[in-house]
Amino acid sequence: MLEFVSYSSYIMSSQPVSATRVSELKSKIEQRQAKVAVIGLGYVGLPLALLYSESGFPVTGFDIDQRKVSTLNAGGSYIFRITVPEIQRARNQGFTATSEYAQLETMDAIIICVPTPLNEYHEPDLSYITGTAESIAPHLQPGQLVILESTTYPGTTEEVLVPILEKGNRLGLKAARGGDSDGKSFFVAFSPEREDPGNQTVARRDIPKVVGGVNPQASELAGALYGAIFNRTVQVSSPAAAEMTKLLENIYRCVNIALVNELKLLCLRMGLDIWEVIEAASTKPFGFHPFYPGPGLGGHCIPVDPFYLSWKAKEWDFHTRFIELAGEINSNMPYHVLDSVGRALNQHKKALNGSKVLVLGLAYKKDIDDLRESPALTIIELLQKEGALVSYNDPYFPEVGRGRKYDLQMKCTPLDNLAQYDCVLIVTDHSDYDYERIVRESNLVVDTRNATRGIHSTKIVPC
Ligand SMILES: NC(=O)c1ccc[n+]([C@@H]2O[C@H](COP(=O)([O-])OP(=O)(O)OC[C@H]3O[C@@H](n4cnc5c(N)ncnc54)[C@H](O)[C@@H]3O)[C@@H](O)[C@H]2O)c1
Repeated sequence: MLEFVSYSSYIMSSQPVSATRVSELKSKIEQRQAKVAVIGLGYVGLPLALLYSESGFPVTGFDIDQRKVSTLNAGGSYIFRITVPEIQRARNQGFTATSEYAQLETMDAIIICVPTPLNEYHEPDLSYITGTAESIAPHLQPGQLVILESTTYPGTTEEVLVPILEKGNRLGLKAARGGDSDGKSFFVAFSPEREDPGNQTVARRDIPKVVGGVNPQASELAGALYGAIFNRTVQVSSPAAAEMTKLLENIYRCVNIALVNELKLLCLRMGLDIWEVIEAASTKPFGFHPFYPGPGLGGHCIPVDPFYLSWKAKEWDFHTRFIELAGEINSNMPYHVLDSVGRALNQHKKALNGSKVLVLGLAYKKDIDDLRESPALTIIELLQKEGALVSYNDPYFPEVGRGRKYDLQMKCTPLDNLAQYDCVLIVTDHSDYDYERIVRESNLVVDTRNATRGIHSTKIVPC
């Protein structure tokens, strides 16, 4: 923690307090003695907390979900890819979890990783960020570094987070701005999370970390903090530039996925295999990056984040047409899957109504335990509305109950007796599935992911 000289002694001191604070905190970071608080112990916050702990920092995790706090403190895990031994190693290093925000008073750096969903009108829901900021503010201390990692529109850090922190703290502290900071300052930066769940090809510490501080000192401190665990940090000129960087990355994906989704629909009509075409195009050594079609967008980021920017753009009387168009194409994909299953059954002289359909894979992408915004959920609902008798199998989800937008109340069906289903629908191409066997034992397989590539059978219908 920072050495907390009493607050009045700051004010009376003639020393350049802020410069001392900055160098003190930097040196604590270098020596891995800076106390790091991570708020929001979900898919982003928990791995980050563990990374700091692994690197020798004293780390405290904060979450309002008591079950998560208790599980972690008992040495357990609630995220599939984070193992119990990893949590236990962190616990042995001193990592603890808590819901008591008062503990923030002893921290040096506070990193916020709370959700940023859309509300029912498809507009940014910043309530988690504002709620967190309101909880931090009364405990804020001079010299502390606060970093927002949640994906959001440009301007959030300075227009939303900073005012709440400034208004709600008891000591009259202000965020350091411009070149200025004093004994009444705290430091604020934005640094987007760039994790790619399930991607084992790039180690987390090899993903460069973009950082934008409210002032140069905040950038310097945030750069030092991330530099301790990431191999490269990239400084940008402001929090808004860092916020926009993250959105550009996700919009780039969203738009390109929409492009291949649309071209897939055309290829299906023309009798061409889009996967073969993408593979061939990918041999170009420059100017082409492959994106792949699928049953629709999923996850907490790609279907959500672009709309943070379209919403903000309206403030500037600007319409983000690419984002809207991509959203339209991508959100139509589950309906395309529904039509494809109906047509495939029709070829077998069967109606969707009353047919038994087994959905393979619920997660929004392969080999992960994340259901958020998964197109599988929409597809199941659409199939059920048409009267199909739907079962599912997903090794990552023994059951699926109620979510923000669905209420399925289903249990995972074992992968046996596949001949009982009129159609097996591959929605998520988990690596554990034996696709040869699935095709051999099924009557009809509709494949939204090209999971059955290399298997030759008239039972397979590409979708
Ligand atoms: N999951 C990803 O792959 C990913 C990748 C890049 C960026 N992001 C962004 O990171 C942010 C977090 O995403 P996530 O996937 O980790 O979300 P998550 O839902 O898995 O975790 C968020 C956690 O924050 C906790 N929380 C909510 N309000 C809180 C509060 N006031 N105080 C303390 N804890 C609180 C929740 O209980 C939950 O445990 C989002 O903005 C998301 O867009 C996520």
